[in-house]
Amino acid sequence: MKIACLGGGPAGLYFAISMKLRDAAHDITVFERNRPDDTFGWGVVFSDETFENIAANDPPSAASIRAHFAYWDDIAVYYRGERVVSGGHGFSGIARKQLLLLLQDRARQLGVDLRFQTEIDSAGELAKHYDLVVAADGLNSKTRREFADAFKPAIDLRKNKFVWLGTRQKFDDAFTFIFEETGHGWVWAHAYQFDADTATFIVECSEATWQKFGFGAMSQDESCRACERIFANYLGGHRLMSNATHIRGSAWLNFPRVLCETWSHQNIVLMGDAAATAHFSIGSGTKLAMESAVSMADYLHSEPTLEAAFAKYENARRTEVLRLQSAARNSMEWFEDVERYLQLDPVQFNYSLLTRSQRISHENLRLRDKSWLDGAEAWFQRRAGAGDNAVRRPMFAPLRLRDLHLKNRVVVSPMAQYKAVDGCPTDWHLVHYGERAKGGAGLVFIEMTCVSAEGRITPGCTGMYKPEHEAAWKRIVDFVHAETDAKICCQLGHSGAKGSTQLGWEEMDAPLKTGNWPVMAASATAWSPRNQTARAMDRADMDRVREQFVAAVAMAARAGFDMLELHCAHGYLLSSFITPLTNQRADEYGGSLQNRMRYPLEIFQAVRAVWPAAKPISVRISANDWVGDDGIEPRDAVAIARMLQEAGVDICDVSAGQTSIRARPVYGRMFQTPFSDRIRNETGMATMAVGNIFEPDHVNSILMAGRADLVCLARPHLADPYWTLHAAAKLGDRGETWPAPYYAGRDQLYRLSGGAEPVAATAV
Ligand SMILES: Cc1cc2nc3c(=O)[nH]c(=O)nc-3n(C[C@H](O)[C@H](O)[C@H](O)COP(=O)(O)OP(=O)(O)OC[C@H]3O[C@@H](n4cnc5c(N)ncnc54)[C@H](O)[C@@H]3O)c2cc1C
Ligand SMILES: Cc1cc2nc3c(=O)[nH]c(=O)nc-3n(C[C@H](O)[C@H](O)[C@H](O)COP(=O)(O)O)c2cc1C
Repeated sequence: MKIACLGGGPAGLYFAISMKLRDAAHDITVFERNRPDDTFGWGVVFSDETFENIAANDPPSAASIRAHFAYWDDIAVYYRGERVVSGGHGFSGIARKQLLLLLQDRARQLGVDLRFQTEIDSAGELAKHYDLVVAADGLNSKTRREFADAFKPAIDLRKNKFVWLGTRQKFDDAFTFIFEETGHGWVWAHAYQFDADTATFIVECSEATWQKFGFGAMSQDESCRACERIFANYLGGHRLMSNATHIRGSAWLNFPRVLCETWSHQNIVLMGDAAATAHFSIGSGTKLAMESAVSMADYLHSEPTLEAAFAKYENARRTEVLRLQSAARNSMEWFEDVERYLQLDPVQFNYSLLTRSQRISHENLRLRDKSWLDGAEAWFQRRAGAGDNAVRRPMFAPLRLRDLHLKNRVVVSPMAQYKAVDGCPTDWHLVHYGERAKGGAGLVFIEMTCVSAEGRITPGCTGMYKPEHEAAWKRIVDFVHAETDAKICCQLGHSGAKGSTQLGWEEMDAPLKTGNWPVMAASATAWSPRNQTARAMDRADMDRVREQFVAAVAMAARAGFDMLELHCAHGYLLSSFITPLTNQRADEYGGSLQNRMRYPLEIFQAVRAVWPAAKPISVRISANDWVGDDGIEPRDAVAIARMLQEAGVDICDVSAGQTSIRARPVYGRMFQTPFSDRIRNETGMATMAVGNIFEPDHVNSILMAGRADLVCLARPHLADPYWTLHAAAKLGDRGETWPAPYYAGRDQLYRLSGGAEPVAATAV
């Protein structure tokens, strides 16, 4: 095949090498505008795992690259006067220039024609003379622009500013992050050694800080001097150097996140940064470029036509690119939002930084550096008041809210059972909640319990509006208190426009087939075209509902619940006031967020007045309507939480969605946790995270990184009431209390999951 590689970066060169390795007869020319040793940038990093893939493709080039590696295992973080070091991270660095020289040598050896100082203006023109053109022309790919209609690139210019510098100061013992507070805001550096005497030193800051420093108007030299002053304490008198002669001005950039919808057009295929980029903070751009090169070479030899090879290549690489881009996005956003975390204790800050891409799990950190993680866990337990010597996972740390002491951080999230009779809980509820309370979670929520018959969602929903309801709930609460050390929280709500609907396992949210009752809400809206339109509440309705809440709270207090939650989420009555999607009122309860919060806050104040002062109240909110600008967005949720905090709400239960049928949620593991993280770290308010959290590792990493104070699991507790006790057994934690009649089962489980038997093990 006659092949042209447009661009002599890692992608173009490694593709040429990989093709020659598979068939020496290919006629391959690499066109590169620069001279052979003329390169911007400093060093690149590879993780150990990445390098194995490359070594398998071409052992000789891998060996020569490896011979030039600078290795390090530790990550060091300078923050608030402390240097925290953790190990086991396994990285290597190499000068970009060295890498390219080695790849050039290898390509020459294999018979690739390398043409330097050759600018290609049109891949389309080139394509007329070759069977295949590989457009590996980098971040600012001309080819991508030339065929923009075909490739359909999405380019997202990110908000932080960064500059890629080098230094002779040694950072040879650890990949180093330095966070420095200046008069103009925080500035931070990512520094790593890549050869015997040079280190990469990437400086990054927010746009606002960058503006205040006036970096935009500086020459590259002035910019280096300014950065030297900022990081003087870490540079040991060494200079910072720029080699970005190809960039005009100060050389500061905004990172462009690129993803093309299509990667090939006729006989032209995009590769490396031209097709997709991954943020530099996870150091995977070169890896992606080189692995894509191998993949393309493979398919060109396994598939009968170019078209088929392109299709397979794009299919295989897109998945990998999306996976890496997702991790890179998490990492990039962490740095974009870093000012949110700059009040964290150095231990927690470090943990948050190390787990920022969400690729490194809690237990994986233990494999990397057990003593560091043990220290971090001990810090967490100490801060939670568990005593000085406790080394247990964060999920087993106690929490105090007012006078409520929770034994651990796992919560059974509220889940409607639809098994009530006329609002009255039955034996089903006694057994259901009793089992969950025996299962080890520190806090068990009861389902949304409604303050009136018409405030129920379905005919099967529980209520708190008749004396027999109070008595039935008291029986359940008494059982939980007598037989377990779990605490129990009463979630109170009113269904609003989502009321008078079928049981959860029938047609959810659909009107009843017969016997519908009238519903009311903030405004005259309907949940869906099939549902009835609610009556807009007038002041008399609002007074009546407030008194219903107050009466229900008095009953919940007498029933002995330990905690109360007001359900202001998921499109029910109080939520219908908060979200502009359903609040169209023209009075003082509609319009601004302040106005829309007025009624929920009025209910909270009325309820707080009758709920025992020693017991906490939480509020569940939908932190994102998932409809974009028209609805509540996470930044509004921060404002909502601030209002709740000022009103005296003890903890915000951060859910999302279910407020509109227009919602388009972005699901995934722990998908709502970022909202809890944002609220907690921007307001300082305690939070609960919920939503697709299902592994102990998720719980531990959320807590340890300071993304929430409690973690709610709903569906996992339907599948396994003993989720917490089982998790503890699996993790080798022997500190959780089992019900005495179950000791024999506990001991067997402990034996089966390895580790020592508990001291208290007794045969009955
Ligand atoms: C600050 C920063 C730090 C980074 N750190 C790392 C890291 O630690 N690890 C990592 O793996 N990656 C890192 N990267 C990313 C990495 O540099 C790129 O992902 C990688 O170089 C992509 O390889 P490529 O071959 O696709 O593109 P490039 O390396 O950009 O190569 C493209 C080549 O094409 C040439 N070219 C372009 N247009 C033409 C034309 N019209 N005619 C002729 N020649 C042309 C260019 O001169 C260039 O040599 C970093 C990037 C940045 C910005
Ligand atoms: C069967 C079922 C019933 C639910 N009922 C309620 C409820 O009564 N009140 C509430 O706030 N959330 C309710 N939810 C939402 C859960 O509390 C939780 O927020 C959601 O299921 C996401 O958590 P998960 O991924 O752990 O299941 C319910 C969820 C399920 C699966």
